[in-house]
Amino acid sequence: MTLAKDICFTETDIAKLESEYASKRPQDILAFALKQFDNITISFSGAEDVVLIDMAAKIKRNIQIFSIDTGRLHPETYQFIDRVRKQYRIKIDVISPDAAEVEALVKEKGLFSFYKDGHKECCAIRKVKPLRRKLATVDAWITGQRKDQNPATRASVPVIQLDTAFSSSDRNLIKFNPLANWTSAQVWQYIHANEVPYNQLHAKGFTSIGCEPCTRPVLPNQHERLGRWWWENAADKECGFHEINLTPNNN
Ligand code: ADX
Ligand code: SF4
Repeated sequence: MTLAKDICFTETDIAKLESEYASKRPQDILAFALKQFDNITISFSGAEDVVLIDMAAKIKRNIQIFSIDTGRLHPETYQFIDRVRKQYRIKIDVISPDAAEVEALVKEKGLFSFYKDGHKECCAIRKVKPLRRKLATVDAWITGQRKDQNPATRASVPVIQLDTAFSSSDRNLIKFNPLANWTSAQVWQYIHANEVPYNQLHAKGFTSIGCEPCTRPVLPNQHERLGRWWWENAADKECGFHEINLTPNNN
């Protein structure tokens, strides 16, 4: 059980909250999450999930935000993360992977092992372990996941869930996905209507943005996920960040 301000987030409470909040606006879900938890953080990938920062900044000051810097992001993404930091006058906790683990992987397998061995090994070191370290310090986190991002793995992403992948035996972690039921078009409508800054890679044909060697632009009307880990199957296109999506009955 995770204790927040008004509600004990038991599995039954979460199921009730999910049915109550699934049809609400992302802003309402965010406001609820930020009211319930003091120690809650937004995970910002440096892409169109910037809308969460814009919305949260209109609700509350001093929100916690983090980005995992895998060391392999595009220059445009680094520039964008810094632009967001300055424009919203916020602190962004930019977290690096363990240097010794990265060095050991690169020494053994080179800098592009993922094309041959699949992305999971490199993602585990550069993304998931630093994420696990960060999530051990908070009670809840907020992500920019949407159902339409990957029909193979995200079609049933709820707006609120118990994150069993990153909870521990003595501590439950709550995960909010306020944009789960928004489409990409709705996100972009919000960006334009509210003059939210965006990553310049979007103007270069990138719809989904991850690490530079594992992301490429897509053609008009191609699904955004085709640009990520394009040498792998759709069902494998999760890096471990959202491991819970691969667990049956995850909501
Ligand atoms: S990924 O798992 O395939 O890389 P995706 O790029 O779709 O995820 O992003 C979905 C959400 O995961 C983002 O909106 C963000 O909340 C979180 N996320 C992904 N990558 C990062 C990152 N490097 N740092 C922080 N959060 C991230
Ligand atoms: Fe490594 Fe590619 Fe995963 Fe980035 S997305 S951590 S470069 S495998």
